[in-house]
Amino acid sequence: MELTARPTLFDFHGVSMTKYFTDNWDKVQDFEARPDDVLIATYPKAGNTWVSYILDLLYFSQMSPDRRDQIPLHQRVPFLEMHIPGFPLGVDELNQLTTFPRIIKTHLPVHFLPKSFWEQNSKIIYVARNAKDTAVSYFHFDRMNRAQPEPGDWSSYLQRFMEGKMVFGSWYEHVTGWWEKKQTSSNILYLFYEDLIEDTDKELCRLYSFLGLSPTVELKKQVREKVLFDNMKKDKMANGSRDEAFDFKISPFMRKGKVGDWKNHFTAQQDEQFNEDYERKMKNTHLQFRTAL
Ligand code: A3P
Repeated sequence: MELTARPTLFDFHGVSMTKYFTDNWDKVQDFEARPDDVLIATYPKAGNTWVSYILDLLYFSQMSPDRRDQIPLHQRVPFLEMHIPGFPLGVDELNQLTTFPRIIKTHLPVHFLPKSFWEQNSKIIYVARNAKDTAVSYFHFDRMNRAQPEPGDWSSYLQRFMEGKMVFGSWYEHVTGWWEKKQTSSNILYLFYEDLIEDTDKELCRLYSFLGLSPTVELKKQVREKVLFDNMKKDKMANGSRDEAFDFKISPFMRKGKVGDWKNHFTAQQDEQFNEDYERKMKNTHLQFRTAL
């Protein structure tokens, strides 16, 4: 089925969502996680695809080298809550996976995560990205993605970002909610997009150790090479070009992959207003982000 009209945002238990991520709610909430599942949780545009690709290579590239050339990444790493016309249900795709471990993508705020992930103590990797770059990346994504609400102009978009009126709700609540949960949950590794950009090797080592993996030197080298932004951008199975909801004439999915691109979008006045609002919203957390390297 074709995606015709853009979906609209509505309040879903206090979080802005579209029907594409709530229509299958009971099935998502009843999802049966397993102890060996690996979940990659992020607010949209924080690097979920990047980490998905890293994990898929780590677990499967030696066992099945053809997998990377034959199956689009979004099928290798199904999107738990997805229920978009014309696409398979995320939950069904996950239940049909025959490979182990299952690598699972989600954008759910922490309090929406199906309880089986906590009961089974599945490993969870949360990736957070600074608010300004996230807002810019999300704006361009919403422009090119027919499965997202119309973004409107940048200035109104930024305002709505500050108000949390984005699909998957408030960035502020998402990153702090997961951060709080991480303080008492040893099954969560909390990573930052900025750290991954600055020192990929160091963050990959943290990832290996969290997952209990000891990849060979050869595999580490291969992963490192393949996940470079420019290489991933050329990889048709990982660069979003297999996703029919995307219009690459408007913007690519692998857009810039940088820290600090917000400076090309925020006016001085927007920056000032954003910073004031940010201080207020983030005053009760120790969570710190870098907006430049
Ligand atoms: P930009 O729009 O700023 O370029 P997600 O996968 O969660 O939707 O996140 C998408 C963002 O991660 C995009 O940011 C995309 O370019 C960036 N990204 C994806 N793969 C990357 C890589 N290998 N290196 C750096 N950034 C990457």
